[in-house]
Amino acid sequence: MLREYAPYSTQDGFAEPFNEKKTWTNYYLGVTNVTHIYYGTEYPMAKTKPSALKGHDKVSSKTKISIVGLGYVGLPLAVALARSFDVIGFDVNKERVRELRQGFDRTMEIDTPNLRASSMRFSTDINDTRDADIHIVTVPTPVDENDKPDLTPLKGACSAVGPVLKQGAIVVVESTVYPGVTEDVCGPLLEETSGMTSGEDFYLGYSPERINPGDKVHTVDKIIKVVSAQTDEVTDILADVYGSATTGGTYRARNIKTAEAAKVIENAQRDINIAFVNEATMIFQKLGISAYDVLETAGTKWNFLNFTPGLVGGHCIGVDPFYLAHRANEVGHFADLILTGRRINENMGKFIADSVHDNLDGKSKILVLGVTFKENVPDIRNTKVVDIIRVLREHGHDVDVHDPLADKDEAQQFLDIDIIESLSDLHGYDAIVAAVAHSVYRDLSTSAIEEMLGGKGLLADVKGIWRETEFSPSIKRWQL
Ligand SMILES: NC(=O)c1ccc[n+]([C@@H]2O[C@H](COP(=O)([O-])OP(=O)(O)OC[C@H]3O[C@@H](n4cnc5c(N)ncnc54)[C@H](O)[C@@H]3O)[C@@H](O)[C@H]2O)c1
Repeated sequence: MLREYAPYSTQDGFAEPFNEKKTWTNYYLGVTNVTHIYYGTEYPMAKTKPSALKGHDKVSSKTKISIVGLGYVGLPLAVALARSFDVIGFDVNKERVRELRQGFDRTMEIDTPNLRASSMRFSTDINDTRDADIHIVTVPTPVDENDKPDLTPLKGACSAVGPVLKQGAIVVVESTVYPGVTEDVCGPLLEETSGMTSGEDFYLGYSPERINPGDKVHTVDKIIKVVSAQTDEVTDILADVYGSATTGGTYRARNIKTAEAAKVIENAQRDINIAFVNEATMIFQKLGISAYDVLETAGTKWNFLNFTPGLVGGHCIGVDPFYLAHRANEVGHFADLILTGRRINENMGKFIADSVHDNLDGKSKILVLGVTFKENVPDIRNTKVVDIIRVLREHGHDVDVHDPLADKDEAQQFLDIDIIESLSDLHGYDAIVAAVAHSVYRDLSTSAIEEMLGGKGLLADVKGIWRETEFSPSIKRWQL
């Protein structure tokens, strides 16, 4: 039975407390009691009936789209598509769905007025997506403790979608994967759980996501969307669908594997370029030269690439290269440059902490500003600031951590870090390590910063946010 929806109202049964044992895997998987969704065996086989897109008729406002996984990628996409189509968002995380129904997006990608104004509906029951012409899968694709691709959420999503797949439907993967996952992993799973044949009864597509959390310029409704599918006809349908959602236009990749590969090298390329700048920075530190000064100077050349040194955290740039390296390994190629870049970037937190330590006089009380994986986002997954904190503590320092955006409970449970949320009452520190360039830190006055240090001490400016700011001579400066 399909549930009646009252968008944004809460429904009984969706208010279960967020009280499961928290592990990173649980976090990625949507947190609670979800095993039955991943493996989907309890869902009945789909009844085959003609799809609105069977024979690939024109896409219309009646086209029904289900978005599977409502995170940083899925929610903005769903809201953008709901301007033109009938969209339902499905997520296994009941708390997330409850919040979205109330108009609250904790990822801060969609504000409350826009979420409330959207016509999209939300569900935690995959059966509610049965009439979808297109299922778009936007679930996480993390790595495991050995940096190998962990396809558990993606396999779970496919196993859930298969049984509700209708004849002629299209399943588009948007999650970042290595070349071959859509056709060689998702396709067979969908066939197995639907009892239908890929390329005949249903169709596969891949459309990589390019959003950049916290970036309000290159949003999903403005950037070029790459589309690919098993047939030209289905690629055309996807170009129509995504073309309705973005003013940036669409690009038809030659095939699915090409689109998968393009996405994964977009991020691997960034990782390698940052690794180069990080390695140069380590050299310049020993030479007593500021990397930022060097980069600004070199940047006057027309073809010098603009990358800055720092931590590479989060769940894209620091993860996707491992996906490509894994596939390379499977086909007998050792991805030397890609993995070297990863190693350099993974070491950056320790390098920063050791450098700060070398600039301190004995055991110190240190304030770390920022713990999220990048500026102006609340996401703490795979943040590398934890490496700085850990190494500073290993050196025997007493470290406090402030962040205005990170969730205090999540930081406690997943990172074992107590976050100070307020900036007032922060004083008496021997050193400040500004690790994340949140706007709130950029806006701090020099006197506020000097007061935290009691007028003297070390200011370690990891992101170079105060490069041009004058402080009193009693403040010792350190930067990359
Ligand atoms: N966040 C980014 O900046 C970004 C950018 C480009 C591409 N990507 C890729 O997009 C994908 C999604 O990333 P994200 O950042 O949106 O992840 P996310 O963790 O923010 O959101 C994923 C959502 O999927 C839900 N989920 C997990 N398993 C599910 C299942 N089996 N069925 C239904 N829902 C399920 C989770 O509860 C969560 O709400 C990943 O492959 C990622 O690499 C992310």
